[in-house]
Amino acid sequence: METIIVEGGHRLQGTVTISGAKNAALPILVSSLLTEGWNVYDNVPDLRDIRTIKKLLTELGARVETEEDVVKINTSALESHEASYDLVKTMRASVLVLGPLLARLGRARVSLPGGCAIGARPINLHIKGLEQMGADISLEHGYIDARARSLKGADIYFDIVTVTGTENLMMAATLADGVTILRNAAREPEVVALADTLNQMGAQITGAGTPVVTITGVDGLKPASVTIIPDRIETGTFMIAAGVTGGDIKIVGCEPAHLAAVIHKVRQSGITVEEEPHGLRVVCETTISSVDVKTIPYPGFPTDMQAQFMVLMCLASGLSVISETIFENRYIHVSELQRMGADIKVSGSTAVIQGGKPLTGAPVMATDLRASASLILAGLAAEGTTEISRVYHIDRGYEAIEKKLAQLGARIRRTRG
Ligand code: EPU
Repeated sequence: METIIVEGGHRLQGTVTISGAKNAALPILVSSLLTEGWNVYDNVPDLRDIRTIKKLLTELGARVETEEDVVKINTSALESHEASYDLVKTMRASVLVLGPLLARLGRARVSLPGGCAIGARPINLHIKGLEQMGADISLEHGYIDARARSLKGADIYFDIVTVTGTENLMMAATLADGVTILRNAAREPEVVALADTLNQMGAQITGAGTPVVTITGVDGLKPASVTIIPDRIETGTFMIAAGVTGGDIKIVGCEPAHLAAVIHKVRQSGITVEEEPHGLRVVCETTISSVDVKTIPYPGFPTDMQAQFMVLMCLASGLSVISETIFENRYIHVSELQRMGADIKVSGSTAVIQGGKPLTGAPVMATDLRASASLILAGLAAEGTTEISRVYHIDRGYEAIEKKLAQLGARIRRTRG
């Protein structure tokens, strides 16, 4: 079992380069299912979740070739319409194949994801939308069995803003008969990146990035050549790393416009953030102030940055309140942070953090991707050594994290025991 060991108390300095965004790459790689021929994607991060989606596409019959950060996918000869439980249970985003398979083959069988560490995470809105587009869907033996002779355009309203739900229906609608309108759609940059990719393939999508997305179905799509956008959550995580170590770092290859809410909150805490085109300089030379944060869908403060921001607040001078409104169980990192000396009280969806208590290194356990990132950040700030087990969670979504941090001066290493 692999472990990450962090020796705290070292100031980060230098330059870090941001990788392509996991949550943009996943739906974009899946969009290759909508067309025949070779699609070419570059700036694809080397992550466990990316390897999982490539495996799933290969099982469906796609040819997948990878050379460094370039991935080529050809789905001309699809052999299967099934995403098995074995793959879906390791990565919920596998459900993204549902819409494209239905649009391309008229048939999809996808394992129901079930709950996960951060919440129940149902996919009822994906299913409801596809049914509105004319799909016949049944749930049997833990699988979603979906059939549609042809999908037709529909006027769909999402009761809750859902990122992959918006992406799934947007992909299905590209080849549907007529116009689909998605209302209360997710506005995340990853949704816009997918729409841009689909439009490059010949789709007709307008309004991506706003709550109303309109998709006019077309007869066929052609392959695309796409550069994956930078990972805004990796960027935000490094901003906090600079903050918790009193550091001075340059973050290059990022997109500051995608992080407006995070930059705002980090600045409010007293940290200096200078914006450059595709870059940020983050300097922390003062006492950190307490700031309240509420997670909400984009352009609000991202739930995927909540655990990391909490570590910053553990070091702040006063009391801060964090409200998590997206997932019902996204405070599992709290008990691990408490073991490191943090003073955090959780009541329902609210966490109250009394900052200023010194963090001390401890053996801790990673429980999900962003929780793992928060434990590394806490380890960087703590006195002594922190040993993080179950690090496979972090490898799902952070490319070479310990190498990037080590280059900035962190004392961090991985052991394989
Ligand atoms: N929801 C429903 N029904 C649905 C779909 C969603 O009730 O049919 C609820 C969820 O339970 C949740 C809320 O709606 O309470 C929002 O969930 P959403 O569907 O937006 O989440 P997701 O699409 O499954 C993506 C990211 C997550 C990120 C969330 C929220 C990908 C592959 N995953 O998940 O990323 O936290 O949006 O921004 O894009 C991560 O990278 O660590 C991660 C978990």
